[in-house]
Amino acid sequence: MRLNGTPSRSLWVDQTGTVRIIDQTALPHAYRVLALTTLDDAAHAIRVMQVRGAPLIGVTAAYGMALALRDNASDTGLESAAQTLIATRPTAVNLRWAVEQILQCVRPLSPAARFDTAWNKATELAEEDVATNCAIGKHGAALIHTRHQAKQQALNILTHCNAGWLATVDWGTALAPIYAAFDAGIPLHVWVDETRPRNQGASLTSWELKQHGIPHTIIADNTGGYLMQHGQVDMVIVGSDRTTANGDVCNKIGTYLKALAAFDNNVPFYAALPCSTIDWTLTDGVKNIPIEERGADEVAHISGKTAQGNIVSVQLVPDGVQVANYAFDVTPARLVTGIITERGVSPATTAGLAALFPEHLQ
Ligand code: MRU
Repeated sequence: MRLNGTPSRSLWVDQTGTVRIIDQTALPHAYRVLALTTLDDAAHAIRVMQVRGAPLIGVTAAYGMALALRDNASDTGLESAAQTLIATRPTAVNLRWAVEQILQCVRPLSPAARFDTAWNKATELAEEDVATNCAIGKHGAALIHTRHQAKQQALNILTHCNAGWLATVDWGTALAPIYAAFDAGIPLHVWVDETRPRNQGASLTSWELKQHGIPHTIIADNTGGYLMQHGQVDMVIVGSDRTTANGDVCNKIGTYLKALAAFDNNVPFYAALPCSTIDWTLTDGVKNIPIEERGADEVAHISGKTAQGNIVSVQLVPDGVQVANYAFDVTPARLVTGIITERGVSPATTAGLAALFPEHLQ
């Protein structure tokens, strides 16, 4: 997508062959590019959320595997790199998926052949991610187009967290349809949930929509229900970090509440995701998806820019108080109007997803 008018990606390999990422912990106040040169760099970037979003985590982990093999391509080195990366963040299934893609390619090879193969596979996964998200954009834009035909006025679309190009290599998942529809001339406006505790909506979604010139408004997380009751939301589109075979959608904490409000107000609620986000082994997301619990700091503190332009973090809560920080929740399939994938839009059902991805039928 565009960054100051220039096409950009959230992860790329520069002319010297170094993996580069945008440090998402510095946005929106500073644009900082980091280099990933070792397994530890990649694992750290995922753990502290310099990169985040299920698809981008997956591609970063794939390069992390390659970087690990450059230093140690033995069988033990390989398996231990995989374990290190998989342990960084437990919920997003793309992480495990990408690591397994690399393992499958390199396990049968001699150590000497492993680095090149892993690097090429990581590059293939990055390119695949871009093509997949572009296709999600096309299918989702068709839904937006239909909705716009019926309304004949600018559409209001609500999104939660950041599932834009920063959460992927390019295009995004939930935002891909919005970019595609906007580029096709459909008038729209996006309600951006701030998305406490880390504020990915306020800091990242808003930043990238602004870069692309898409009209949007940041709202406090609790506002969506009110807007829906007053006819100010035409559709909701969110991303997903893991989706079960029957269409339960795990996404950033707070998504479930938006889905309940959308259901109560007859607002269509879509999840946009690549098939690498579908965990075909699970059929009950609420029971079976491990929910990452992050440090209390993210809830207890907030960081921002002072009037003097300094970035500071301040404490919001009483000293020593107990804080819980669940990073994701699961929206049951019955609340999901449809799942937008690279192969088309599916009902959130086992049969619907299996029809689009028959190769996963057991
Ligand atoms: O904790 P994060 O920021 O890595 O969470 C991931 C997300 O941005 C969202 O949950 C997103 O909607 C799905 S990833 C495209």
